[in-house]
Amino acid sequence: MAGPVMVALAAFGTYGWLGKPLTADVAFPALALFNLLRFPIIMLPNQITNLINAHVALGRLRDFLAQPERDDGGGDKDAAPPLSPPGPAPGAAAAKAFAIGGGDDFGEPVISIQNGNFCWEAGKPPTLRGVNLDVARGQLIMVVGDVGSGKSSLLHALLGEMDVRSGLRFVRGTAAYTAQDPWIQNASLRANILMGALYDEDAYAETIAACALVTDLEALPAGDATEIGEKGVNLSGGQKHRVALARAVYSAADVYLLDDPLSAVDAHVGATLFDRCICGLLAGTTRVLVTHQLQYLAAADTVVVMRDGRVAEVGPYDALLAKGVDLHGVVKAGGVDEDGGASQRGSANAPRARASGEADSAASPSSPLNFANGNGHANGH
Ligand SMILES: Nc1ncnc2c1ncn2[C@@H]1O[C@H](COP(=O)(O)OP(=O)(O)OP(=O)(O)O)[C@@H](O)[C@H]1O
Ligand SMILES: [Mg+2]
Repeated sequence: MAGPVMVALAAFGTYGWLGKPLTADVAFPALALFNLLRFPIIMLPNQITNLINAHVALGRLRDFLAQPERDDGGGDKDAAPPLSPPGPAPGAAAAKAFAIGGGDDFGEPVISIQNGNFCWEAGKPPTLRGVNLDVARGQLIMVVGDVGSGKSSLLHALLGEMDVRSGLRFVRGTAAYTAQDPWIQNASLRANILMGALYDEDAYAETIAACALVTDLEALPAGDATEIGEKGVNLSGGQKHRVALARAVYSAADVYLLDDPLSAVDAHVGATLFDRCICGLLAGTTRVLVTHQLQYLAAADTVVVMRDGRVAEVGPYDALLAKGVDLHGVVKAGGVDEDGGASQRGSANAPRARASGEADSAASPSSPLNFANGNGHANGH
């Protein structure tokens, strides 16, 4: 508001300093002019900020558009045959039908990588080498491995974000992904979960509960209308993971690629996420879960052990144990809980019960999320 006054003072001051007499026939028209310019003068600082933001955004767009074309190896999910019939809706009934087994109704894998060699940058040695992986519909796959062994890269390869040096990969149907370092938009918490999808009260409430966000919402000043992100309330690492998970869940995709969502939460919340969300609401969908939490491995249909960019071991948990695979040894790194809870890592000796059976109490067979199916995002980033 002080802008126009300052401009008038500066103009008249300069005028006087130049030795010109400030008479009424100069001062009053000048004041009228400054009054006319009041709005543009007030807006000037905002426009300067907007111009700077536009310049930065243009730079980013230029960098993005200048990226070299990625060779997808013809394995894009759009190129893959569609799911037929449509994928099962999340819910316990679907879990019973599809959770365990080596193939879907037609024996076709939903996710497949054949002799895949993937690299992050064209011309660089491949990060993932000789990967073979078939995942049937409705399976829960858990990917474990040492730090830097290629677990996140495997998910990126499935998403088509890595160069396919050779081999084939495809993901049938829509995929939702939660990143190891979750991304939060500057918007309300609800907008961060919906990401433009239609609001369905029941589906939303179910998602919030399954992602253990109820208590967090109660603690926020304006509930789920609270602005989060850089300009709003800062969320903890664990909260960000849960918001990202909720976003993926609400998108009601066919395939979920989850990068270590249990890493930054305490034991209790981790168990809730696993039971009510991953094995509850998402039961019946195809899930690839990267995790360091060995106590959940017994609930997996297939455990994939990554080592130095290769699939070192793959098979059911019991089969790997019987084979003498040292699952403790593959996850050497400890974890730090950003929520302040104790890490649960590394307890393969006390595996949890098969969680697919627990899903009955966590998700109703007629999950309202069925309605969200048509509104889901193709990608739950
Ligand atoms: N976005 C990226 N761009 C280039 N290289 C990457 C990228 N992400 C990972 N890498 C490289 O790929 C290799 C495997 O890393 P990746 O993140 O897949 O391991 P990880 O098993 O997920 O490890 P962690 O347990 O720490 O999450 C590493 O050498 C890493 O430097
Ligand atoms: Mg990773």
